[in-house]
Amino acid sequence: METRVSSESATQYEGDAVVVGVFENAPLLGAASDVDSRLERMVQRLIDSREIRGKPCEVTIVHTFGRMPAARAAIVGLGKSAEADLFTLRRAAGAAARMLRDRGCRRVGFALLEALPGTRREQSVRAIVEAVYVGLYQGGERKSERGLPDDLDEVCLLGIADEHGESAAQAVQSARIGGEATNYARRLVNLPANEVTPSWLAEQAIEVGARTGLEVQVLEPEQLRELGMGALLAVARGSEQPARLIVLRRRGREGGPRVAFVGKGLTFDSGGISIKPADKMHVMKSDMAGAAAVLAAMGAAAELKIDLDLMGVIPAAENLPSGRAYRPGDVLTAFGGKTIEVISTDAEGRLILADALGYAKHLGATHLVDVATLTGACIIALGYVAAGVMGNDSEFVEAVISAGERVGERMWRLPLFPEYRPQLDSPIADLKNVGGRPAGTIIGGCFLREFVGETSWAHIDIAGTSWSEQNEPHQIEGATGAATRTLLALAERMAGGMS
Ligand code: BES
Ligand code: MN
Ligand code: ZN
Repeated sequence: METRVSSESATQYEGDAVVVGVFENAPLLGAASDVDSRLERMVQRLIDSREIRGKPCEVTIVHTFGRMPAARAAIVGLGKSAEADLFTLRRAAGAAARMLRDRGCRRVGFALLEALPGTRREQSVRAIVEAVYVGLYQGGERKSERGLPDDLDEVCLLGIADEHGESAAQAVQSARIGGEATNYARRLVNLPANEVTPSWLAEQAIEVGARTGLEVQVLEPEQLRELGMGALLAVARGSEQPARLIVLRRRGREGGPRVAFVGKGLTFDSGGISIKPADKMHVMKSDMAGAAAVLAAMGAAAELKIDLDLMGVIPAAENLPSGRAYRPGDVLTAFGGKTIEVISTDAEGRLILADALGYAKHLGATHLVDVATLTGACIIALGYVAAGVMGNDSEFVEAVISAGERVGERMWRLPLFPEYRPQLDSPIADLKNVGGRPAGTIIGGCFLREFVGETSWAHIDIAGTSWSEQNEPHQIEGATGAATRTLLALAERMAGGMS
């Protein structure tokens, strides 16, 4: 698919369809009004008769019968104009792209830039293009006959004056890479755990490295033992699949920050001996969504040649019960020497991240961001709407949250007050891996904090945002690619000077 910008208007574009926006109970916007005039006020009549309401994501396709070059116009709802923001624009663009693709269109022009007059053009361009890529992802990776509609050939952003063409084209480029990276992460997460094993993930990382020029190093159990990664090794013990620690590196500017992205890579989480209920257990193939986000963002950062010293660290393991499995009551020694009493083998993510965060620090990271499907409690706290963010450096936590904001990923900070820490006290070891039911997500964050020392660190819990049970107008069900674009946007911003 080609994505480009053009100074043409909706009534000039010669593709198969144009997309224009309408607000609820409001006069028609410029592009919608131009289309309406060409169509002898058909759009307004559909609004008057309540066929078009302008509700968010509502898409109405009308034929133009030669009254303008594009054979179809898609009128997409933007909701109430006072409430519209970049999130609204994303959902509208994704829904329209998906609907038009499903109707057989191949070349689609978007005339939505005027919808948010107070917003910088590049931001709207980025939002639309990312949303179009995310919206068009079709899934069905392992259907024997996919029978899916053809992809679009062209997406064109209309109404961009020539003098803005270059900056808009740059925004398109970065958004395309961000959107494709998101879909790459979704694909990895949707693929089943009988394919996606720790060693398979490592092979993917090697492929990404070969394609983009990242250095990739894969540590196997013997090396993990030598390094003292007792937590990662313990989690993997119950499975026939040996653990891997994957390290990807991109060398950037000397003297700047050294940023490490650390992604939880549980290729399947049965809970281990503390086994989970069978209901919905299959979704736990998505417990490597953090790893997928890190791998995808690292590849994209390399493609965009972001000038930043960047590493991706992915601890990968499968959590299964067996005669070799680690058990509740076991005491593990993590990388760096801290001891952990295992209360639940189902709190395994924090264990493998303890080793990985310690190792990233050991490799010289000045800033750590981990991404993990860490706690079911995060779904209780924030639902499927926002990721939970915690950390030890307010400025850095805010930088993560605002990176999320720029790419349409909602995040909300939770506190790590010192009063929570006693919940993790253990009578036998330095700490235990579970601290009871209160504040489950925060306790996960408190646990991880013990392994980052004084290094700036942010933790993103994507348990609620990484998987969608529902087919929505703007994206299909299943993996969402959560945090991929946030990591990329954070890297872009940090390369731009934020320390
Ligand atoms: N991978 C799960 C968390 C999870 C649950 C992610 C549901 C997505 C959807 C994690 O390993 C886990 O099992 N966490 C436990 C922690 C508890 C034992 C302290 C949980 O949330 O129940
Ligand atoms: Mn678990
Ligand atoms: Zn897990």
